Amino acid sequence: MNTIGVVGLGTMGAGIVEVFARSGLDVVAVEAGAAALERGRGILTASTDRAVARGKLSAADRDALLGRVRFEAGPAALHDADLVIEAVPERLDLKHVVFAELDRVCKPSAILATNTSSLPVTEIAAGTGRPDRVIGMHFFNPAPVMRLVEVVRTVVTADDVVADVAALCTRLGKRGVTIGDRAGFIANALLFGYLNQAVTMLESGHVSREDLDAAMRVGCGLPMGPLALLDLIGLDVAAEILDTMFRRGGRNRRHAPAPLLAQMVTAGFLGRKSGRGFYPYG
Ligand code: CAA
Repeated sequence: MNTIGVVGLGTMGAGIVEVFARSGLDVVAVEAGAAALERGRGILTASTDRAVARGKLSAADRDALLGRVRFEAGPAALHDADLVIEAVPERLDLKHVVFAELDRVCKPSAILATNTSSLPVTEIAAGTGRPDRVIGMHFFNPAPVMRLVEVVRTVVTADDVVADVAALCTRLGKRGVTIGDRAGFIANALLFGYLNQAVTMLESGHVSREDLDAAMRVGCGLPMGPLALLDLIGLDVAAEILDTMFRRGGRNRRHAPAPLLAQMVTAGFLGRKSGRGFYPYG
């Protein structure tokens, strides 16, 4: 694989662009309009500048990395991509629109991947004329740092597509794990009940946010407490994942979004990206 397309340049999409470009691959980074493109470019620039400031990347390597990324408005530029990964917001109707466009513009041999964290990959694949070449590639936040990629195969995904994507993960320096198309795949299926429970515990008023997070960080050796992690993931994203898992996963109470989480999303407290979540930022 030489050329990779990334559609959607939010936190995850921009991070995924960086991961591919760091590995020497050419990337076509696509967003719907000029403002969204600039926002995506800003995330990529900030992340690579920080790596330079920390002495992890030379200025010349950063420039070479950025030189491998072409920013384009609209998917027509993806006609020669070998693999395209979609990272638009987690709405099935939106994913269907994007995949119909990708199916039209991409060459027949191209693999179409989705970074969805909880939507059914099978349904996304079924909306295309090449369901055997559609697969899940679920990265973790922050994508340039977290080494896991969940490779999600549906009942129709071709074996060679799974093998190519697994090899690509290795090339990116990531650990690929393969899972069937079930709600939450591996990590989110285990993680989100815990995160939701943490919000419920905070809501009960018996513990402060700092002590709740410290208990899991200091007591259990996790890099972040659950509330800080929710702020990193984005409370809107977390609420959507919980809602999807609740509906797809047999309406398990564990995944019924805690009322406080829904209220914070309504109030616009979305975590780090909005400047306020369970904690204030910036
Ligand atoms: N983008 C790029 N790089 C970043 C970054 C970002 N947003 N945030 C941190 N980094 C880099 C830093 O530059 C630093 O790199 P070097 O070691 O090369 O200098 C490294 O990560 C460590 O950063 P810090 O020293 O600033 O901070 P830290 O040691 O506290 O680590 C963390 C930060 C990596 C986020 C760590 O706290 C962590 O691992 N947290 C848990 C994250 C996690 O669980 N993610 C999964 C969420 S679930 C998910 O994503 C699935 C889903 O579908 C929602």
